[in-house]
Amino acid sequence: MTTTTPTDRLAAARETLAAIGQEHVLTFFDQLDDAGKTQLLDQIEGIDWPEVAALIASHVKAKPQFEMPGEIEPAPWYPHTPTDDLRAKYIEAQRTGEKLIRAGKVCCFTVAGGQGTRLGWDGPKGTFPATPIRKLPLFACFAEYIHNIQNRFEVKVPWYIMTSPINDRQTRAFFEKHSYFGLKKENIMIFPQAMMPALDMTTGKVLLAAKDSIALSPNGHGGSLKALFTSGAIADMHRRGVTQISYTQVDNPIVRMVDPLFLGLHEIDNAGMSSKMLPKAYPKEKLGNFCKVHGKVTVIEYSNLPDELAEQRTDDGGLRFRAGSIALHAIKVSFVEKLNTRPSESGISGASFALPWNRAEKKVDHLDLTTGEVVAPDSPNAVKLETFVFDALPMSDVSIIYEADRVDEFAPIKNADAPEGEPENPDSPASSKRIQTERAARWLEKQRVKVPRRDDGTVDAVIELPQVTAIFPDDLEDEKLPSRIEPGSEVVI
Ligand code: UD1
Repeated sequence: MTTTTPTDRLAAARETLAAIGQEHVLTFFDQLDDAGKTQLLDQIEGIDWPEVAALIASHVKAKPQFEMPGEIEPAPWYPHTPTDDLRAKYIEAQRTGEKLIRAGKVCCFTVAGGQGTRLGWDGPKGTFPATPIRKLPLFACFAEYIHNIQNRFEVKVPWYIMTSPINDRQTRAFFEKHSYFGLKKENIMIFPQAMMPALDMTTGKVLLAAKDSIALSPNGHGGSLKALFTSGAIADMHRRGVTQISYTQVDNPIVRMVDPLFLGLHEIDNAGMSSKMLPKAYPKEKLGNFCKVHGKVTVIEYSNLPDELAEQRTDDGGLRFRAGSIALHAIKVSFVEKLNTRPSESGISGASFALPWNRAEKKVDHLDLTTGEVVAPDSPNAVKLETFVFDALPMSDVSIIYEADRVDEFAPIKNADAPEGEPENPDSPASSKRIQTERAARWLEKQRVKVPRRDDGTVDAVIELPQVTAIFPDDLEDEKLPSRIEPGSEVVI
């Protein structure tokens, strides 16, 4: 219990801020009521100011330049369909993955702390209606997947969800309102990630969102590796005997929350942190590139991969740097724990784990310090700083990559729909619904159901396949299915 008085807290905050030229944060302090004062002091005390000061010098006043590593090669990956020499290994991996799940050693982890600004949805992204007909919210899609796995393997799969202080309350309320989508409340743990202040692009000054509040934003999905530990999620996993984390993003309604084959390959190879990839559709597709740098798997952002490398081809005509990151990972619980507890060079436990910071220029509403009014800028005025989870990959001694199938498991919703009459936006609600229908059509056609297709091959119907019914292509084998889908119809299977 803290015995510090408000006066002591204010004096300490003033001293800390003054030391790095940020005392303006307290400009309106004297005008605040007690609740406002407490909120602002809480925020100030929650920020690592020496780190912020260092980042202002390195990432705001200067722009860090990406340094292309000297030796870079494409990272190898396990192909979606095994080659002859891999067939036996895939069978073993599938069995291993299933065994892990059945034994309750696998949990789901969704990172849902992002602000989803590109989508323009007023609320946590996980509450966005994502399926073509039932309009099921993203969180409900994930819950259906978990129900399917729980039934299939007769096990309870714990689900950890990282929010941010901005959307935590709404996310919890949504789960409560929907009775945890039929899952057991005690198997779901929701926790917020840490925040970083937004910084004025020219002066490096911390921006205020209100008189009693710093303009804070989530510190990137890289923050999940610390938040898992500090929230007690890792300790909870230990109590439950969970050894593997299946890490997924919040934006994809058909994501494989748990994938036995991928988890099995990761386990057999004794990897600390592994990834799924998609072969890029074209050289500069906006996906991170899986590379090998000094023998370690490393993601190089599409914007940093030089064109000449991005365009290189192999003998088979495919891209040499082909493996694009879709931000899906399998992570050993012990890997996260080690990152957070290993002694640093200075001997202080936990201090040595640091991911690189990334700079993004954004428009951030803020308070004008002379008028006390909110200013909404027309162009980017602030630097936001984030860390990325994939920057932990090189910290893993072994890291495998497995090729996913685009239609079977990747229909993300990131951008808003294009205006009516304009071509579809990539990664939008419209593209996601089209892919979900195409996926359902393929799986139905595999079972000899007649699906109507237009001349250009697209499906002439809207089909929704609930994840409680099917999560893998062969799951429809034992289902009672219609013999055909009528052209122009809307069908939930
Ligand atoms: C991400 C990857 C990109 C990959 C693509 C695949 C980055 C920088 N890029 O792009 O390489 O090809 O997914 O779909 O990650 N999140 C948090 N807290 C944060 C920030 C984000 O939890 O502070 C979560 C979001 O809620 C979301 C996920 O991380 O679930 C991805 O966030 P976003 O920043 O939107 O990355 P993308 O642009 O989608």
